[in-house]
Amino acid sequence: MKLWSGRFQEDTDKLVEEFNASIGFDYKLAKYDIQGSMAHAKMLAKCDIISKEDSETIIDGLKEILKEVEEGKFEFSVELEDIHMNIEKRLTDKVGPVGGKLHTARSRNDQVALDIRLYLREQIEEIKELIKQLQSVLLELAEDNIDILMPSYTHLQRAQPIRLAHHLIAYQQKFKRDYDRLTDCYKRVNILPLGSGALAGTKFPIDREFVAKELGFDGVSQNSMDAVSDRDFAIEFLSAGATLMMHLSRFSEELIIWSSSEFDFVNISDAFCTGSSIMPQKKNPDIPELIRGKSGRVYGNLMQLLVTMKGLTLAYNKDMQEDKEGLFDTVDTLKVSLEIFARMMANTTFNAHKMKESTEGGFVNATDVADYLVDKDIPFREAHEVVGKAVFYCIQNGKNLLELTMEEWKEFSSVFEEDIYHTIAIETCVDARDTIGGPARKEIERVIAQEKKELS
Ligand code: ARG
Repeated sequence: MKLWSGRFQEDTDKLVEEFNASIGFDYKLAKYDIQGSMAHAKMLAKCDIISKEDSETIIDGLKEILKEVEEGKFEFSVELEDIHMNIEKRLTDKVGPVGGKLHTARSRNDQVALDIRLYLREQIEEIKELIKQLQSVLLELAEDNIDILMPSYTHLQRAQPIRLAHHLIAYQQKFKRDYDRLTDCYKRVNILPLGSGALAGTKFPIDREFVAKELGFDGVSQNSMDAVSDRDFAIEFLSAGATLMMHLSRFSEELIIWSSSEFDFVNISDAFCTGSSIMPQKKNPDIPELIRGKSGRVYGNLMQLLVTMKGLTLAYNKDMQEDKEGLFDTVDTLKVSLEIFARMMANTTFNAHKMKESTEGGFVNATDVADYLVDKDIPFREAHEVVGKAVFYCIQNGKNLLELTMEEWKEFSSVFEEDIYHTIAIETCVDARDTIGGPARKEIERVIAQEKKELS
């Protein structure tokens, strides 16, 4: 029998029952639903809405149900529609009619909002921990590979020389912002909606502050209609998640390019690659490819919830049941992607020779020649033109800038002296860029130390 059958004369159509049910996915909320119910039952007794004895019976029953869930013994039923009614029905089966007192001063509308917040709160903490671990791996790699020089790119064309560590820290900084975004999102997740009832609160003298304290919420929602109709916190989380996946995806794209024979900058360990069923020579970077691919579904989950919510009148509408699958999917995708990416990075080695070699072609020190001229009081625009001509000459003669003779330099400008060779040596170029956030060794060392300190 349905928990709401009183008003009904006919049985629910079988197809409707299946279509309407959320138990196929919201079973994941079981533990949070029970956690919330226990706090609610405790509060009902504290406020003399039910007796202490009834409250204890209910809580004991819920504890047993939690055990059943944890041991995989709980039988979820589609007939009972969702996790809330599955658990309530099991409770009355166990403890008798007194179980029916649990739903006093509560609705599934504030209950589901509570469950999602309890779930998300825990997941955010776990995801933040994984982001921290990834940051640590990147900082370690940066430290261990501080000597490696490589070209940086704009438009995927060689631009200026940097240290590999600089590139790695660029991502560490992006992940650090992802971490901060989740910390900020958590503030709005960690507000108690329970006590809002269906949408207009309740006449019972409940104590919402007590429940908030019991469950570790930082505050209590201030408008019952808002509380049951709000999924902003989930949208914010999905958005932060999409941004995080975008970062993982960009990094993945670079690893894919860098591991091609044409670049040959990195070697991703065999344990993180796969082979081809036909081409014996292949070692494919499936893991970064999959992460790049999965960013698409995470973006999709954000878009789906935004669109689901956009036309909804206040307060609860059944459309909102569609909030869960995408949310769960994003959480699961973020967790596995972060974990595997960090492990893959820890098992990736860099080809220092190839990276250095790449700084020798591509005229990555051309800007430094122009800066040299500026130091000799030549206006930057003029200097730019002179160096452009030198680069063109080099291209035509199959040389790089460091291979020009002193006579050749003098052809372009009389101010060139012997010190040009030292000035535009790759390492000199990198370490001269020692402004805050620049690629110079001492600046990178400063940032690594600072970020490591913050992480610990
Ligand atoms: N299964 C529902 C959901 O996930 C729970 C809330 C149902 N509330 C209602 N008034 N039908 O949204």
